[in-house]
Amino acid sequence: MKPQLASEKKIYDFTKSLRHFSSLVEQEESKIDFAGIYPIHVRIEPTELCNLRCNFCIWHDEIRKEGIKDTVNMKNRFMDPDRLINLIKEFKTCGVQAVSFTGAGDPLAYPYMERVLDELHKQEICVGVTSNFSMPISTDLVELLAKCVWVRWSQNAGDSQSFRVIHNPKNNNSTFERAKTNLQALINEVKTKELPCEINSSVVVNKLSRGALENCIKTSDQLGIKTIQFRPDVPLNTDEDAISYEPDIIKEFDNIDFRNYKIVVDTNLERDESRQPDESVKNPSLACFYSGFTTYVAANFDVYPCCYTRIDKKYVLGNLKNQTFKNFWETPERISKFFDIKVANCPKCPHVSENEHLEKLSVEPPTRKFRKINRISGDKFF
Ligand SMILES: C[S@@+](CC[C@H](N)C(=O)[O-])C[C@H]1O[C@@H](n2cnc3c(N)ncnc32)[C@H](O)[C@@H]1O
Ligand code: SF4
Repeated sequence: MKPQLASEKKIYDFTKSLRHFSSLVEQEESKIDFAGIYPIHVRIEPTELCNLRCNFCIWHDEIRKEGIKDTVNMKNRFMDPDRLINLIKEFKTCGVQAVSFTGAGDPLAYPYMERVLDELHKQEICVGVTSNFSMPISTDLVELLAKCVWVRWSQNAGDSQSFRVIHNPKNNNSTFERAKTNLQALINEVKTKELPCEINSSVVVNKLSRGALENCIKTSDQLGIKTIQFRPDVPLNTDEDAISYEPDIIKEFDNIDFRNYKIVVDTNLERDESRQPDESVKNPSLACFYSGFTTYVAANFDVYPCCYTRIDKKYVLGNLKNQTFKNFWETPERISKFFDIKVANCPKCPHVSENEHLEKLSVEPPTRKFRKINRISGDKFF
């Protein structure tokens, strides 16, 4: 079956949960105190360590990381596992229902990932993990990953040669073959135990990876991965052209024989969205209501509103090393910072229109009676 043109394809929707949330609010109450809810989802960066130096990565590529050297102190830090385990328990008491792992480093380069996943599964918190998978990982870790709600392989390469060029591994232990072996073990585990884990792959498209696109699809297909997502390379300082696909890349997508394989070509990715004229921030005082129900914890336990603001420590909301999540979340300082974040002053934000919508539902002044948010049934993104 010939697919629709790549340029016309609808993207994976990062803001789906937010829209569900808005309709839930509309149905259940007329106004909500966004500063007075606990988050439903937390992104965790367990480490700044990574085994690779992907050419598109602001954290590890030698040239790109220059762009953040004045606003981020990257130190190969990783979370103290005991504090992280306690934090997970604290999340549970506050009603956090999902945790996803990403970061300035690679979650599977974190030496305590087995313990942490085990605790999350025990607490029945939904888990998603994004990783390059090219490092050695244990059988126990494979079993724990298989119990996650989703796992995303940052594939980016189609063979060993393109892997070396695109990913620039820091040592010989990280290889394309190893990533495939790890993914195969994970897929086998999911199949054998009939687990609901969704495994997909993502490929950042730029000048280096474009020659590998077809091989990326073949590799994923052979492994039994059901979905591959192509995303444009988003540089730190975006300009209009840099974040769109060049017309000849679009043509290349259209020439690939897609068969029945599910391929998502992202044409409207995250930071792109703020580029749309109707998405521009019309209200300079618009606050980030989104950051009331999802938040980001970095490897040194600094808390940021989201992964985009992680590139500048001026956005830090507080630190969780020496205080409980509940205490931190309820402090007047955190609440006042919540209202101080102005979408117009943020790095490129994908949630402009949602924030405009949520603003209309926001109660003023805040009630400060904290409450948990229920999981939205059928919503698979966390
Ligand atoms: C920064 S990485 C961190 C997690 C992990 N190390 C990994 O690579 O999956 C998170 C995701 O962002 C993607 N990414 C990194 N730099 C990007 C860029 N310039 N444009 C688009 N996506 C990018 C990666 O491919 C990965 O899927
Ligand atoms: S694997 Fe992830 S964190 Fe590591 S260099 Fe690549 S994109 Fe960056």
